[in-house]
Amino acid sequence: MTDRSSPKIPLRSRAWFDNPSNPDMTALYLERYLNFGLSQDELQSGKPIIGIAQTGSDLSPCNRHHLELAKRVREGIREAGGIAIEFPVHPIQETGKRPTASLDRNLAYLGLVELLYGYPLDGVVLTIGCDKTTPACLMAAATVNIPAIALSVGPMLNGWFRGERTGSGTIVWKAREMMAAGEIDYPGFVKLVASSAPSTGYCNTMGTATTMNSLAEALGMQLPGSAAIPAPYRDRLEISYLTGKRIVDMVHEDLKPSDILTREAFINAIRVNSAIGGSTNAPIHLNALARHVGVELSIDDWQTYGEEVPLLVNLQPAGEYLGEDYYHAGGVPAVVGQLIEEGLIFEDALTVNGKTLGENCKGAVIEDEKVIRPFDKPLKPRAGFRVLKGNLFSSAIMKLSVVSPHFRKTYLENPDDPMAFEGTAIVFDGPEDYHHRIDDPALAIDENAILFMRGAGPIGYPGGAEVVNMRAPDYLIKRGITELPCIGDGRQSGTSGSPSILNASPEAAAGGGLALLQTGDRVRIDLGKGTADILIPDAELTERANALEASGGYAFPAHQTPWQEIQRGIVSQFETGMVLQPALSYQ
Ligand code: FES
Ligand code: MG
Repeated sequence: MTDRSSPKIPLRSRAWFDNPSNPDMTALYLERYLNFGLSQDELQSGKPIIGIAQTGSDLSPCNRHHLELAKRVREGIREAGGIAIEFPVHPIQETGKRPTASLDRNLAYLGLVELLYGYPLDGVVLTIGCDKTTPACLMAAATVNIPAIALSVGPMLNGWFRGERTGSGTIVWKAREMMAAGEIDYPGFVKLVASSAPSTGYCNTMGTATTMNSLAEALGMQLPGSAAIPAPYRDRLEISYLTGKRIVDMVHEDLKPSDILTREAFINAIRVNSAIGGSTNAPIHLNALARHVGVELSIDDWQTYGEEVPLLVNLQPAGEYLGEDYYHAGGVPAVVGQLIEEGLIFEDALTVNGKTLGENCKGAVIEDEKVIRPFDKPLKPRAGFRVLKGNLFSSAIMKLSVVSPHFRKTYLENPDDPMAFEGTAIVFDGPEDYHHRIDDPALAIDENAILFMRGAGPIGYPGGAEVVNMRAPDYLIKRGITELPCIGDGRQSGTSGSPSILNASPEAAAGGGLALLQTGDRVRIDLGKGTADILIPDAELTERANALEASGGYAFPAHQTPWQEIQRGIVSQFETGMVLQPALSYQ
């Protein structure tokens, strides 16, 4: 039991509500919160004031259920002797925000930092869910470093269509094919896509949302077993109540993000990310979080610690099942339990319940081995990321486990050098350019082409576009060539399973080697050595670099909003988490 009579440190909210050295200001602060309906007694009782950082709203349907869950969080806070104050976080809706939701991750972060720092809050419940809401909230808690606990909104129920599971995001690719083949008409297309979203909650596939919510638990920032509970289940209300109760004790124990988010916790999360088949967006968000909490974490750590870990979770898009199945199979603890048995987890990493990850997950049972495989019967070996480097970029990542048999046969079965291939670059400047020209016969794309997408990074397409997975031109598809290697400085949707080389840093707009590439250049990719190079002499590359500089650098579209301009001026590359660089001095 937590000792509530002698807090380790004075509550920070006392500086507002009970400050003997400044009675006038105390009265003023009190007056306005009394106006909200709290009593002086409550505000001066020494009870912790707990913020509920609310990411749900009508604009963000994935997280909207948090409006309901917050009621149970409040009851938990009150039960444990705290006072709840709920406030809005800048909403981020992954699918609704133009030009891209990832533009807003750092904006929500900045806003939440100001709220946590500038108001009388002793601790906070972070309501996470839709893709970018999780990193934004965790990053802010890391910067301000007050006791914080995350509460996932939970995935949607499984989608169904004609007796088969339909997963959010993933079904769109299939529905497009069915419509193109005349199997369904447009109303049928909409019905099929909508079938994947049958209830409140976040995407039920292993996209970026399930990934980031699972990793928030693996990092120790959520109560054990809580991430995978589907949004509408009764268990979700129960865990909301327990989360509210627990944050009050965390304040009394002064258990802060910096105690939990250690390098060991991040390495645990990297390994869990491989085992669950996590999104290629995870390195961006975790590297950002690490930098805000002052932990050294590099893109190479993802390969070092994550690459060899096999895929255990059988969720779409890599596998068959969906969020409800993941929960019933045991969720994150069952996955971590398997990794513990292999000695792949730092068991001493502390978590929000005051226990270690080892104490929480050791011996956790897999309830359904179709959905979560035991370590010795994985779905795929080596499910992590390969990091590539060369004169094209200083880093980019590739998920080797999603390389299709077709791709492997076409590109990776040269007996002399089975992991390397060469091709002719076809270069697109941003998604619009790609859509306009991909089917243009003048490009004369053949099976030896490698498609490049540039101008899609944090600066070029502010926030970074999910556009690197590109389809082959129609005229090649008709000849049976459906896949070409894709490389770019943008991202890829977590719900797409293409074997692209993505998140290239530095991007073209930041002076990366991609800016020097020209259509027709020979390019060599060696997945074994981890290299990616333009095959032209250094002298010519230097000449191109000088010419580009003289012309004013790689051109990108004009800013559309003040925030786009502000962020473009101070943002780091994907490799280092796409963070606002001035924010790093506030740890
Ligand atoms: Fe919000 Fe997928 S669009 S979780
Ligand atoms: Mg996304």
